[in-house]
Amino acid sequence: MLGFIGGSGLNQLKNSTLIEELSVKTSCGEPSSKISIIDIQGEKAAFLARHGQPHHIPPHAINYRANIAALEQIGVTDIIAINAVGGISEGFDAGVLCIPDNLIDYTYGREHSFFDGIIKPLDHIDFSLPYSQHLRYLILTAITQVQAIHSLNPVLIKDYACHAITQGPRLETAAEIRRCLQDGCDIVGMTGMPEAALAREIGLGYACLALVVNPAAGVSDKLITMDEIHRVLEAGMDNVLSIIEKIVLST
Ligand code: HPA
Repeated sequence: MLGFIGGSGLNQLKNSTLIEELSVKTSCGEPSSKISIIDIQGEKAAFLARHGQPHHIPPHAINYRANIAALEQIGVTDIIAINAVGGISEGFDAGVLCIPDNLIDYTYGREHSFFDGIIKPLDHIDFSLPYSQHLRYLILTAITQVQAIHSLNPVLIKDYACHAITQGPRLETAAEIRRCLQDGCDIVGMTGMPEAALAREIGLGYACLALVVNPAAGVSDKLITMDEIHRVLEAGMDNVLSIIEKIVLST
């Protein structure tokens, strides 16, 4: 079964029928929210709200291990994560939808592995390409279908991005973002890791659909405001919902 992890601006899948809500307990604790099993035109999928329902858990305090373990426990085999991000490099403007192909992890102090010798014995995963190519392709195909129906501007779609993941909950300094740009990052968010690595550790497919909601710190001459972020989130999440629907129907 396909599972979606919704981030800021996506706490529920409004375009689906709720079949049941599961309270799942794992050896790593409880996930951020109940897991909704939803139906989209006869196809089932799972949905988990990363920041809780209602949104209250900050990025550094999310129990990523419990979230991934809970999805696996209920039979999810592939995860598509939805992330709101800041845009760093040229062309990654507010409103752009992108499918990251790589990442750099700048987070610290998070429970970031199942292979700690307690939950699971020590092991090392290959993480050269952190996102599933197959799922990235499914997302891109769905975006192309939605684009044809809703006339999405092709300029607002990028089939690649290097995703910087910072610790939060504060936004970055302009110098930190300059460093991310020098490191080759295109977008920045706070929740992409350790989520992606944990999925890989237990053999789940994982890819990310990111919506750029603001120019990252120092990229524009304006300060970042939550009002502006919410405005872009609201406008962009409708497209994300349509894309999710197409993905579910294509699996
Ligand atoms: N930085 C980090 N995380 C974010 C941003 C940002 O600018 N925008 C949305 N999530």
